[in-house]
Amino acid sequence: MARSPQAVPEIPGTAGTPTAAAMPGAPAAPAIHGGTGQPAGHYLQFASDNTAGICPEALDAFVRANAGFAASYGNDDDTHTVCDRLREVFEADAEVFFVFNGTAANSVALANLCQSHQAVICSETAHVHTDECGAPEFFSGGSKLLTAPHRHGKLTAAGVQEVIQRRSDIHYPRPRVVTLTQSTEMGTLYQSGEIAGIARLAHGHGLKVHMDGARFANAAAALGGSPADITWRAGVDVLCLGGTKMGLPVGEAVIFFDRALGADFAYRCKQAGQLASKMRYLSGPWLAMLEGGTWLRHAAHANAMAQRLARHLAALPGAERLLPTEANGVFVNLPEPAIARLRAAGWAFYTFIGGGARFMCSWATTPEAVDHLAHDIGQALAAG
Ligand SMILES: Cc1ncc(COP(=O)(O)O)c(C=O)c1O
Repeated sequence: MARSPQAVPEIPGTAGTPTAAAMPGAPAAPAIHGGTGQPAGHYLQFASDNTAGICPEALDAFVRANAGFAASYGNDDDTHTVCDRLREVFEADAEVFFVFNGTAANSVALANLCQSHQAVICSETAHVHTDECGAPEFFSGGSKLLTAPHRHGKLTAAGVQEVIQRRSDIHYPRPRVVTLTQSTEMGTLYQSGEIAGIARLAHGHGLKVHMDGARFANAAAALGGSPADITWRAGVDVLCLGGTKMGLPVGEAVIFFDRALGADFAYRCKQAGQLASKMRYLSGPWLAMLEGGTWLRHAAHANAMAQRLARHLAALPGAERLLPTEANGVFVNLPEPAIARLRAAGWAFYTFIGGGARFMCSWATTPEAVDHLAHDIGQALAAG
């Protein structure tokens, strides 16, 4: 079928590669999808945690949300209930909003925190800087992103301090927000003490703290304890809580722990095209995810699959671990010929995030798929 003009580019390095040819000797996987012996898109599954479909709980809830009529624009019962559930989960009387995707969540939230002459401090690796097409700058009317050095994708208090104190003259934008990504773009985690250290510094200089939580569920599952401890109790003012990567069809929550910072946010969402008229389809699935800790269970599974892959790779000569595996991503250095062989075998994965090959796991990743990938990596390395 012809692609629409709006279609996004192929994952780099995968255009034109076959998607169903396994490496010789690959273990047989259960026949789920007609003929190939693999589920549809099997070879795409480690490219991102959003190549997975909707998890069953969210899908059921999506169908349930479709019963009859409901008030629009977030005035329905499910939306009210899920906002209350999020307040319970985070133990905070927060303002909660739902938007369609992570780019919108981050950029519209940052725009609410920052005037156009002010600046957002982020890591050099932050999604807001590298992968949002200037949306934070656009929605804020020009707030500049100021990058700070990182360690394994994490900002350090010293790096943030240097940016805050770099300039105070009229010619430089005034830092107003620090944004942290949890878990980071490089698959690592901020411990609550690290967040608190940066937040103390930020607040001490009159800055607010925003958290890009596209993969917050993976962080919360890995760190354990109360989500409040790694957000507002550690000094986070606003959390963009990812839903898509944890198994929702679409939708992220924006949680203002400091309600005052959420003033007029509903208007910004509307102006940005982020106010869903049939909000129940966003909020219903959220409700199912929060029920009985489903979100954390799925995230813990994704994390466990990443650990399984990391264990396999640790045993493979030639696979050099690039970063600690702390959440649901595995980053490894592979020689170019091995990368080419894996791609020729059909596997899709990024190589420009984190400096090596990135393999992401999701709620839908199976141990068999991990073993298959690890087997093929082993074969690709062994071929020299
Ligand atoms: C760290 C991070 N933040 C935000 C997003 C959300 O982006 P999107 O607008 O594609 O939902 C992503 C998606 O890859 C991400 O990795």
